[in-house]
Amino acid sequence: MHNLKTSFFGLKLKNPIIAGSSGLTNSISDIQDIEKAGASAVVLKSLFEEEIRVETEKNMTKMVASGFVYPETMSYFEYDDMDDPLGNYLQFIRDVKKSVKIPVIASINCVTADQWTYFAKQIEEAGADAIELNIFALPTDINRTSQETEDLYFNIIEAVLKQVTIPVNIKMGYFSANLAKLIERISKTKIAGITLFNRFYSPDIDIDNMEITSSNVLSNPDEITMPLRWVGIMSGRVKCQLAASTGIHNGEAVIKQLLAGAGAVQVASTLYRNGVQHINKMLKEVTNWMDQNDYKSVNDFMGKMSQDNSSNPAAFERVQFMKYFREF
Ligand SMILES: Cc1cc2nc3c(=O)[nH]c(=O)nc-3n(C[C@H](O)[C@H](O)[C@H](O)COP(=O)(O)O)c2cc1C
Repeated sequence: MHNLKTSFFGLKLKNPIIAGSSGLTNSISDIQDIEKAGASAVVLKSLFEEEIRVETEKNMTKMVASGFVYPETMSYFEYDDMDDPLGNYLQFIRDVKKSVKIPVIASINCVTADQWTYFAKQIEEAGADAIELNIFALPTDINRTSQETEDLYFNIIEAVLKQVTIPVNIKMGYFSANLAKLIERISKTKIAGITLFNRFYSPDIDIDNMEITSSNVLSNPDEITMPLRWVGIMSGRVKCQLAASTGIHNGEAVIKQLLAGAGAVQVASTLYRNGVQHINKMLKEVTNWMDQNDYKSVNDFMGKMSQDNSSNPAAFERVQFMKYFREF
């Protein structure tokens, strides 16, 4: 018997494969299939901060008109109107919770700490087991210092943690001049986990039609190297658990991330490419490898190849290819 149990999001999970937020986690039947395929948890498709703010402003206007004016009262506002996206999201959480047994993690894609964070409490009350905040901070504003850009994470975390008691996870990108320090500082807030990394929409240029297009919506297996490096470097240095995301397409990739020190992995693109049943195949690949290497439990090898535990720690930080350049 293999023990695949792990934990992430402050939750006990039956195995390390989580279905990450995507269009496949936006319908009850897909989520039921994801559960059947063996995923240990599901992160719902994100609600965008902007959607919350637009709805909040509409509701505020209604409240002001009726003399009910304090912004704090938003947290008591009932979202029963099925035509509104916030009500729909809360109802979706309730419905998913009734339909599957695995933990259900709500997700918010956010860029500020303004006027939306009260909604985290509504998500908790709807029954979500945890919340993932997909914080999108692309440092493109030349009028902002890196400190100002990074303060964003802490402002959001502080505001959301005031609202909820369920675990909060941060899914972040890798754009930072001082990424290791940023990850370490985030891990010292009271969040439950950090997911490295979100994969951003990437612009491309269509030279025939002179248009900006989106490139490679789905990841490729070779994209694992970026999160692998940072999970390996950071897993021994953070105060919360790390999960890995981006480029995890098969069991081998899951094993690599666990060896680097991830407590769990999130997968999305491989489910689009191979169908959600692929989770089951990935789990089999993990257990086969465990058999071949005499591991009974994932805890027996988790972090074994992290920078802290590796016999060649410098390999995680090497950025130049002296040897390879010579050979080529
Ligand atoms: C079609 C699609 C939709 C996605 N939607 C969301 C989303 O709503 N919220 C979010 O946090 N991540 C979203 N993601 C990002 C994934 O959760 C994941 O972090 C990213 O795709 C990298 O993992 P992968 O290489 O396994 O795809 C989406 C990804 C895809 C491919």
